[in-house]
Order: sequence, then C-alpha cells, then structure tokens
Amino acid sequence: MTTYAEADLPRLLPGSSDDAAGARAIFAEARAAAPLASGLFGPIVIHHRDVVDLLRDRRLRGPGMDFARLSGIPEGSRAWNRQAQILLFMEGDDHHRLRRLVSKAFTPRAVEALRPFTRATIARLVDAVIADGSCDAVPALCDPFPIPVICALVGIEADRLDDMSRWASAILLSLRLDAGSFIDEIEQAQAELDDYLDELIADRRANPRDDLLSNLIAVEEEGDRLSPSELLSVVAMMLVAGTDTTRNQLSNMIHTFAEHPDQWALLRSRPELVAAAVEEAIRWEPATEALPRFATDDIEIGGHLVPGGTVVVLMSMSANHDSAVLPDAGRFDIAREVPDGWHLLTFGGGIHYCLGANLARLELTEALAELSSRFETLALAGASVLHPPGSVIAGYSSLPISWQ
Ligand code: HEM
Repeated sequence: MTTYAEADLPRLLPGSSDDAAGARAIFAEARAAAPLASGLFGPIVIHHRDVVDLLRDRRLRGPGMDFARLSGIPEGSRAWNRQAQILLFMEGDDHHRLRRLVSKAFTPRAVEALRPFTRATIARLVDAVIADGSCDAVPALCDPFPIPVICALVGIEADRLDDMSRWASAILLSLRLDAGSFIDEIEQAQAELDDYLDELIADRRANPRDDLLSNLIAVEEEGDRLSPSELLSVVAMMLVAGTDTTRNQLSNMIHTFAEHPDQWALLRSRPELVAAAVEEAIRWEPATEALPRFATDDIEIGGHLVPGGTVVVLMSMSANHDSAVLPDAGRFDIAREVPDGWHLLTFGGGIHYCLGANLARLELTEALAELSSRFETLALAGASVLHPPGSVIAGYSSLPISWQ
C-alpha cells in the first residue's frame, strides 16, 4: 500500500481561500477528486464517513500536551498544569474519570435552567443597537454574549464579569500556536482567576447554591471527588472551551443568514424552525473546522498508509458538506430533512465529543430566536473580515450588518 505522502493527493494549505464560500468550493473539489488531501503537517481527512469512523478509532489520539509544548508553554508553569487537567488535552483513564465527574455536575437540567438568562442577555445586547439599524456584530453582539452565560452557569458573581472577560481573553491566548510569547500575561490572568476561585470555592463549600461550582464541589462517585486543583482547571476549561467557540459560531451564523435572506424570511414566518435553523447554520459555517489528531500506530485511511506518529487532521468542515451522505449538502436549507446515518461534526465525536454541545445549542437557539424576532431583514453592510488562516477557531473579527 502506498503511503499518503507518496500518493498524488490535492494539497490544501491554510489561506488557500479568502472566504468561507471559497473554502467550501476547494473542499468540494478535493472530495470529488480523492479519498484524502495532504496539508501542512500530514493527511487531511475530507470525507464524512472517514471522519466519523476515525473519531472513534483508538489508533488516533487527541492533541494531548504536544500542542502546549509546540506552542511554547513552559512545562510546570501554571498554564501548563491547568491545561494538563483540561479534558480535550487528556486521554485514557484520566480523561474518562474527569469527564464522568464533570458530567455528573454539568447536567441537562443545569443547562436548561440558563435559558431565560441567556435570552435576556442577547435581548439586552440587541436593545443597545436596534435603533441604529446597523452595527459591527462582532463587538456589539457576539463577543459580549457567552461570558455572562458561563458566569451564570458556574455561579460567578455578576460584579466580576469584567474581570472574567479579561481573564478569559488572556487564558485563551494559551490556545494559540505562539502561546509562549504571551506566557507572562497568561500566567498573571490564571493566577488572578485561581485566587478569585479559591475564595469562591471556600464560600460555596460553606454555603452551597444551585450552581455548577457547588455541584462540582459536591460531586462524588465511588468515593472519588474532584481535587482542589481539578476544580480550578474545570472552571478554566469552561471559560476556554465555551467562550471563543460560542462567540465565533454566533458570528458565523449571523453571516450565513445575512447571505441567505430567503432563509431569514422563512425563519421569521416559521419560528418553530429555530432549532433546526441552528443545526443547519452550524453545519454550514462551523466555528470548529478541523480536529487535530495523532496516529499512535500505522493506520489505513482512504486506501493509503498513514504511519504511526503522523499528525492527522479530521476536517469536520469538509465532512459537514459531503453530499455522499447528506443530499444537496451544498444548499443552505433550514427546513431540510436529515437522513439516517448523518452526523453533524461541528461538535466532534467519540470520547472528546463537545461536553458543552447542549449549552452551545441553547445559546445559539436563544440568540437566533431573539435576532429573528427583532430584525425583519438582515444584510451584510460592508466587508466582513475572517480571522487569519490557521486560527484555531473560525469566525469573523469584523462583521458589519444592517437590518430593518
Ligand atoms: C458553538 C460552540 C461550540 C463548538 C462549535 C464546540 C466544539 C467543540 C469540539 C469540536 C470539541 C471536540 C474537539 C476535538 O475532538 O478535538 C469540543 C470539546 C469540548 N467542548 Fe465544545 N464547543 C462549543 C461550545 C462549548 C461550550 C459552551 C462548552 C462548555 C461550557 C464546551 C465545552 C467543551 C469541552 C469541555 C470539550 C472537551 C471534551 C472532552 O475532551 O472530553 N464547548 N467542543
């Protein structure tokens, strides 16, 4: 069997296209031409069935701490230690144990209870701009949306929202490929967050409330509990995993609807489609386009050998658009019927499947319901600017929109 490196595969590099539509066209061409593509680090898996299978294949593992090492986070630093206790970077029994404990506290009931607060949060943001008829959706609507929701979930006091925003922005730098250059800023923010949480944890131990922090403190399974350092890491994880993803996914969703006025009109005439509309929007322009994996052993993908040790990129964005599994996948259609065997890949799959998918869906559903009930029309009002190629999360840095 030829190795993927010897095969004549389409070569796909970050920045090959200027916009989301161009990227979709490039991947459609690659899927029609070949079983795999090749990229900067190794093979890129582009077909839906392969991405679904490989997410469950134990010969591939998640990024582990290699990503932190490559991005220059010093081993033993506070940032390193926190990241080592974040589910996405863990594997095996340690991952399984922590995920079980966190899932016991982060329940569907706890998420559902946030619905009214989430709706009020987006409504307040819309109130502030509605009379203007236009805004840049990123600073006005998307950026400020998720942090109050995560704070309400965890049980963080409303008067610490500005601090949380500041800490989240600095800690999010630890996910950049050049994180090492920001290490002082990241360490400072992580230390301030840890100090604040230490106080909050002491308070909740003494006076438990109906919030995630109190539930995490109380969670116990067969005598096992979260350690103090795990508690700090889980809150940092919620901030890291639940902030940038949601705000960028909201920007992508607004962009998609602004480009599809017929679907906006359909949603306004049939508001009961809102949950289906969110599913279709996160399929169409996902904030998480690619899932990085390492092959721990030789593995065959699309008829080619991928040697153990290779970095394999599972291109969820390409799989979401694969018409071999989803008929007419190249059309944005909020009323579409999805066939058996279809898996949306924006939230990944397998053991690292997004733990916050319910919360993300709730936030996006409330945001879309609010926006579509307030804006009769929605249009792009200038050039939108995507994050630079190679960004970990895909979304817009600027998104001028207007409405009536
Ligand atoms: C639209 C918003 C979101 C998107 C698109 C998203 C996407 C993803 C994806 C693709 C993964 C798997 C990554 C991989 O396998 O390499 C993931 C994992 C994760 N997500 Fe989300 N996410 C979102 C929101 C959230 C929220 C709101 C939270 C929590 C508050 C959250 C918590 C997590 C956690 C803890 C993991 C790691 C799970 C594990 O490794 O076991 N996410 N997310």
